[in-house]
Amino acid sequence: MKLQTLRQFRKMKGRTVLLRVDFNVAVGKGGKIAPEADVRLREAIPTIERLLEGGARVIAVSHLGRPKGWDAKLSLKPVAKHLEGLMGRPVTFVGESLTRGKAVERALAGLGDGQLAVLENIRFYPAEEKNDPKFAKRLAGLADVFVNDAFGTCHRAHASTAGVARSFRERYAGLLVEREVAGLNRLLVRPKRPFVVLMGGAKVSDKLPALKMMLKTADRVMVGGGMANAFLAAKGWNTGKSRVAGEEIRFAKGLLKNSGKKILLPVDILAASSLSERAKVRVVPADRIGKGDYAVDIGVATVLEYARLIRKAKTVVWNGPMGIFEIRKFSHGTVSLGRMVAAHSRGRAFGVVGGGETITALEMTGMAEWVDHVSTGGGAMLDFLSGKPLPGIRPLMR
Ligand code: 3PG
Repeated sequence: MKLQTLRQFRKMKGRTVLLRVDFNVAVGKGGKIAPEADVRLREAIPTIERLLEGGARVIAVSHLGRPKGWDAKLSLKPVAKHLEGLMGRPVTFVGESLTRGKAVERALAGLGDGQLAVLENIRFYPAEEKNDPKFAKRLAGLADVFVNDAFGTCHRAHASTAGVARSFRERYAGLLVEREVAGLNRLLVRPKRPFVVLMGGAKVSDKLPALKMMLKTADRVMVGGGMANAFLAAKGWNTGKSRVAGEEIRFAKGLLKNSGKKILLPVDILAASSLSERAKVRVVPADRIGKGDYAVDIGVATVLEYARLIRKAKTVVWNGPMGIFEIRKFSHGTVSLGRMVAAHSRGRAFGVVGGGETITALEMTGMAEWVDHVSTGGGAMLDFLSGKPLPGIRPLMR
């Protein structure tokens, strides 16, 4: 079985392509997208350009965030606008709902060969995450060919990633998916050892199972950020105002019991009085976080210890920030280790960095091009590396 790629897609002219992309980026106040946050958009452009230059009519589909129903704050409109600026060509944004008769078809009627439209956030429809077959058919009815370039979402069996694919005789991986699969495959075969993983970030309940899988292949897993709080709480330590769900604590306890030797936890933490640039901060031992503290970054001793292990490694994978790096005062652990991973890649070790927030943090180091493979996927990258078949990729193999 081989991945079907754009090389196999010969007749593009005049054909309508449903293109699944991952435009899940951080949108700031007034719909602004910071330059370090638009990597996923820039990474989608080569495929879009290839299709448009081939004369296809492209309908791009993406999610943004995790909305519960229709939510103007999570509209893709500002993302489409930003993309227009990046590409220097017009992008039609279709704000109409797929459940309102043929409103979307009417809005797309003027789309000509070599033109691009972006549909509204696909997660506004509850049927998307349920992978509802009727909804998948509705979506498939808009186009002749399916191209999936949303690597970051390929671990989700949703209507626009997995369900829709089967309705198309012709379905291909985009250039980004192709590049991701090739880059990450290098690690699946036989990673050079020591193989260390640096994991952090939010989406803790999503990522704990991925961490469990990584423990099977990696030699050490160093934990920070929101993920570390689950482990600190599992040890019975206080995490202050940084809340951890009961099920996460139970899961972390199980991991510590079975693989405790492989898991490294922060020995110190940056404790803050509030979640703002004005917060009072101090470094405390990881078992001394006060009731009124927020755990916002790893401490200096932890940075040094994790850096030491990264320097000894031959393979390094990094997913998830070490704290709330969006606030400068809390960004030092994440940025220092990001620099360490980058400086140690390209020859000394094979360095892989992935995930929406993580690549934003990597951009902040100014060293992204030092890394061997920068993946747009977080959960998708981890699932891929743990050998799980991804539901978004499976239908693209023939
Ligand atoms: C991501 O940011 O990892 C992808 O866009 C998937 O988003 P999700 O975790 O909300 O499914």
